[in-house]
Amino acid sequence: MKTKEIRQKFIDYFASKGHQPLASSPLVPGNDPTLLFTNAGMVQFKEVFLGTEKRPYLRAVTSQRCVRAGGKHNDLENVGYTARHHTFFEMLGNFSFGDYFKRDAIKFAWELLTVHYGLPAEKLWTTVYATDDEAFDIWTNEIGVPKDRCVRIGDKPGGRKYESDNFWQMADTGPCGPCSEIFYDHGPGVEGGPPGSPDAEGDRYIEIWNLVFMQFNRDEAGTMHPLPKPSVDTGMGLERLTAVLQHVTSNYEIDLFQSLVKAAARETNTKDLTSASLRVIADHIRACAFLVCDGVIPGNEGRGYVLRRIARRAMRHGYKLGQKKPFFYKIVADLVAEMGEAFPELKREQARVTATLEQEEKRFGETLENGMAMLDTALAGNAKRLDGETAFKLYDTYGFPVDLTADIGRERGFDIDMEAFDKAMSAQQERSRAASKFKGGTQLDYKGAKTAFKGYESLSEEGRVVALYKEGSVVDRLEAGDTGIVVLDKTPFYAESGGQVGDRGELSKGGTCLTLFDVQDTQKIQPDVFGHYGTVKTGELKVGDAVAAQVDMDKRSRTVRHHSATHLMHKALREVLGTHVQQKGSLVDEDKTRFDFSHNAPMTGEQIRRVETIVNSEILKNESTNARVMPIDDAQKLGAMMLFGEKYGDEVRVLDIGSSRELCGGTHVARTGDIGPFRIVAEGGVAAGVRRVEAITGTVALAYGAQESQRLARVADALKAQPQEVEAKLAQVMETVKALEKEVARLKGKMAASQGDDLAGSAIEVKGAKILAAKLEGADVKTLRDTLDQLKNKLGSSAIVLAAADGDKVSLIAGVSADLTGKVKAGELVNFVATQVGGKGGGRPDMAQAGGTNAAGLPAALESVKGWVEQRL
Ligand code: ALA
Repeated sequence: MKTKEIRQKFIDYFASKGHQPLASSPLVPGNDPTLLFTNAGMVQFKEVFLGTEKRPYLRAVTSQRCVRAGGKHNDLENVGYTARHHTFFEMLGNFSFGDYFKRDAIKFAWELLTVHYGLPAEKLWTTVYATDDEAFDIWTNEIGVPKDRCVRIGDKPGGRKYESDNFWQMADTGPCGPCSEIFYDHGPGVEGGPPGSPDAEGDRYIEIWNLVFMQFNRDEAGTMHPLPKPSVDTGMGLERLTAVLQHVTSNYEIDLFQSLVKAAARETNTKDLTSASLRVIADHIRACAFLVCDGVIPGNEGRGYVLRRIARRAMRHGYKLGQKKPFFYKIVADLVAEMGEAFPELKREQARVTATLEQEEKRFGETLENGMAMLDTALAGNAKRLDGETAFKLYDTYGFPVDLTADIGRERGFDIDMEAFDKAMSAQQERSRAASKFKGGTQLDYKGAKTAFKGYESLSEEGRVVALYKEGSVVDRLEAGDTGIVVLDKTPFYAESGGQVGDRGELSKGGTCLTLFDVQDTQKIQPDVFGHYGTVKTGELKVGDAVAAQVDMDKRSRTVRHHSATHLMHKALREVLGTHVQQKGSLVDEDKTRFDFSHNAPMTGEQIRRVETIVNSEILKNESTNARVMPIDDAQKLGAMMLFGEKYGDEVRVLDIGSSRELCGGTHVARTGDIGPFRIVAEGGVAAGVRRVEAITGTVALAYGAQESQRLARVADALKAQPQEVEAKLAQVMETVKALEKEVARLKGKMAASQGDDLAGSAIEVKGAKILAAKLEGADVKTLRDTLDQLKNKLGSSAIVLAAADGDKVSLIAGVSADLTGKVKAGELVNFVATQVGGKGGGRPDMAQAGGTNAAGLPAALESVKGWVEQRL
């Protein structure tokens, strides 16, 4: 049975038992920033198990794509060298949401394995959690597994309660429960002992299926709360099961992997199909292609970095096999052939996936070779330890993730001075922190309370000066003309964050002498401490002063419109381009919103218009926006859009604008209608796989529209047409231009022909050959060539030079009839003339062209032709 048949049989079997077949969810868990990648089939059902989400079915079956690399489960370095480690694998699973429990879960599993997949019962072993008498009883009494082949597994020695191989939990918190596992015995020919025995780690007894009896929700304190209804979550590794059913002991020998191994061999010109590097590549192409398919882009942080590490490891193995050119991306096609049917999204995204991996490969290709050379130099003399500085430089300059260097180390027998590497790394982080702190002024000495931000509700507020800074130092007063920073106890000024720029405005103090502080920018000088950056215009400010803080309303409301529109646009982009679109950066100010997002191709005009239409129709609905502060867990449940890798506090602000829902601390419009018209005005690429759009709203969009109308009116004027007739009129004009161009070309030809007639008469005859050197007025190169052809025809045995001048620029052509080329070469002739007009040239013996830059020298140069030719005849 082939892998794909085994997968299908699983789905069909459980469908026949009333399970809803569902698609695998993406590798990037939807709105769960706590989890790096989907690592089990149950991830998409987490909320259903917890009872916070209801589905119209109580049973489901999936083949879930999973990645276990990066984060907790990091097997990367083993992949390729063992029989069963993968970065990417498929987990077959059946699920019961408060429907059946242990008995049916066990019965289904047994029937499927022994009857439908035909595995001999005597080769199967089972385990249960030590105190799970119920499961033990079902296995041994109802199914008939001999008691000595149903092993009770307890908690790990010295571990907490439930810290056991037979107690499964998704993460430190979340749904969990005792489990029961099924093992396959490869027989006495393979090393290893049964589950629970000291040598259980060997390859003889292989765990194939894990049946989890979900019963608890574990909270952060470790307390187990019973789930609303006991449920079932099972997981069987498709590749392992296939290895068993195809009677091979390594997952890499199954049909699916063999195709990929062969593809890797083809692309790296490798003959030896057992090479571990081929297995690495075969494994890694699956993880990389699906990660890109699911919206991850190679980068230097978070998920993007895990992807980069896997991709670069594969590339390095290709390099090791002698393939120095990009090859990895070419295997995507083979993967699609193997898996595209079961995962149509991969097929759909094939072009984008291929292009992304190719870009990453090209980028790494530029530094890989130099990095390897540097490594070789550092290891000269068979050093057994690589110094941390070199490892860091390889990372920093040559793009070698440190585990890639470590990987090479394992092959060549060196290790890395990790302590020194970490030190170099933190020194660099410190440097960049210091650099980025500078602008925000985070180095300012401040020990007071946080600033109370009042700017969601109002734009003017009374505040008290709690700290003042001048040239980076604490001062107790700022005088007229001083530039400095003011911290207030409370303020309506928004400090730059989340892409939204800081507010401008003024602080004023009444009394006999009016004080005015012009606020140019607002930045956080520490988390939640707002600094007002600006200049004292009149009077002075002292610590303790009460001031009226007034935000520049116009700038703020323009900025706010752009910010709210950004949320709507983000949502619309995902709707139009796909859910791989993720925010990569944003800048919102009074002039525009600039939004960077993951996507691999330029947006088409049609896509841009669709995004505009969606956003504008949300604006027209004029719904009121709504901001709520709530615990992050609740926000997750509400499906608020979060950014992975972003640090959110326990309490977050969830913002609903139109149909969008995002976590956001920014300031926003009260109703979507306040945004006014929305236009996208620019679209382009900023980095591999990252696009940037710029959009405008409100008064900016109106002004833009007005300018466009004016421009159109000017064009219409110039065309002597009404604005609505411009296109038709322009088409007419273009038609006319085309007709005129044709006519001009015809006339030029005609003119040249007649010039040719006249010229033929002025040729001089020397020893039976005709010599002619002449300048054609107003001719271009084509005309020169045509005229030369005519003249050659007319004059017979001849040597001809024709020239044209345009300003200083000279074009030359020379032609020699075939009977004379033995003596006179057109190439030499034209060069002889060209050198006299500041040029150079050459060509065939019968026809040659040249150019020059000194038209003034042309008459004399043409004069000289006769003598030059005569000498040679
Ligand atoms: N969720 C269970 C596992 O991953 C089935 O093993």
